Amino acid sequence: MAADGDSADARGGVSVTLRFEDGAERRIVVAPGQFVLDAALAQGVPLIHQCRSGNCSTCVATLIEGESATAPGRPVALLASEAAAGRRLLCVSYAHAPSVIREHYPATPIDAAAAPRRFSATLGALARPNPKVAIFTLAVADETFAFASGQYVRIRIPHTDEWRSYSMASAAHELPAMTFIVKLIAGGAMSEYLLRAARPGDRLEIEGPRGAFVLRRSRGQHVFVAGGTGLAPILSMLDAIRRRPGMRPPMLPSFGCSRDAEFFARDEIELRRWWMPELRAILSAGRSDGADDGLRRGNPVDALDAARSTRPAPPPICAARPR
Ligand SMILES: Cc1cc2nc3c(=O)[nH]c(=O)nc-3n(C[C@H](O)[C@H](O)[C@H](O)COP(=O)(O)OP(=O)(O)OC[C@H]3O[C@@H](n4cnc5c(N)ncnc54)[C@H](O)[C@@H]3O)c2cc1C
Ligand code: FES
Repeated sequence: MAADGDSADARGGVSVTLRFEDGAERRIVVAPGQFVLDAALAQGVPLIHQCRSGNCSTCVATLIEGESATAPGRPVALLASEAAAGRRLLCVSYAHAPSVIREHYPATPIDAAAAPRRFSATLGALARPNPKVAIFTLAVADETFAFASGQYVRIRIPHTDEWRSYSMASAAHELPAMTFIVKLIAGGAMSEYLLRAARPGDRLEIEGPRGAFVLRRSRGQHVFVAGGTGLAPILSMLDAIRRRPGMRPPMLPSFGCSRDAEFFARDEIELRRWWMPELRAILSAGRSDGADDGLRRGNPVDALDAARSTRPAPPPICAARPR
């Protein structure tokens, strides 16, 4: 049943029912021109979110009944096919009619359980696998710092009050060291620091851990889709699975970059294939510069669709071969 429009407030807001994975429901009123996420937070419903600008997909939910649409003209991190299937990024979506929206997590988000704290960290190795990507490590001295694969920290850009969020690419067993994979953006504040000023030994302030995009235990096939530096939390999750006792689930990461010349982390993925026979990787590039690179063409979602019907798995493309 759609939420009852009679419960909407006198300013013309509409009633939206948020239905959580554990069966709990919360009813909120969303005013005209107000985003669903803003309405929920203002009414004390702590929906999981991060960027609040349609870029990170953290607030994705599914419209079951009613009418909810993205604010016009906003570029959002959602495929047209996902929107057609009812997915909505609530931080940039209005409710135009009484609606029911499904959240893909229980009513008590993990963020509410532990408030993120601030820590000091030391910059270690800094590498550039290609001109658009930086990989660096941070060491956290405080032994109480812990995180789950898939979470992220905010890092303060040295000598500024600016913070940026980055997902850990390494798993918790590697603490106190953490690895990050960062896309370098011309003129970006953190990008410029990494490109021009960063030196091993720099002290950085971090805040976290944050985020609820974490691995849930299941024996079914684990499908991961990542583009560019979005690979970071996926690598962390794969490493966490590798360390678990008992049988591992089948894993199918699909990783792509926009061009083959920008493809990175191939050895890291192939190494995990050597370690874990349950892992079958799909590697893709949107465009080719002509080389026979062994990558599938297209984005990682299309490559995944094409490859899921292909059996057996293709042989490793660029394996780290033991001698
Ligand atoms: C939860 C979370 C986790 C994240 N994890 C990672 C991660 O693991 N690796 C990573 O590289 N980034 C990650 N990001 C993005 C990261 O926080 C920064 O936004 C990004 O690194 C840009 O920072 P900057 O200071 O270099 O650029 P800014 O100074 O913030 O931006 C400079 C300009 O670039 C534009 N811009 C920002 N991001 C992009 C982009 N992706 N592509 C094109 N233009 C852009 C801005 O609109 C602005 O005009 C994450 C973001 C969130 C919310
Ligand atoms: S919070 Fe990032 S897309 Fe909505």
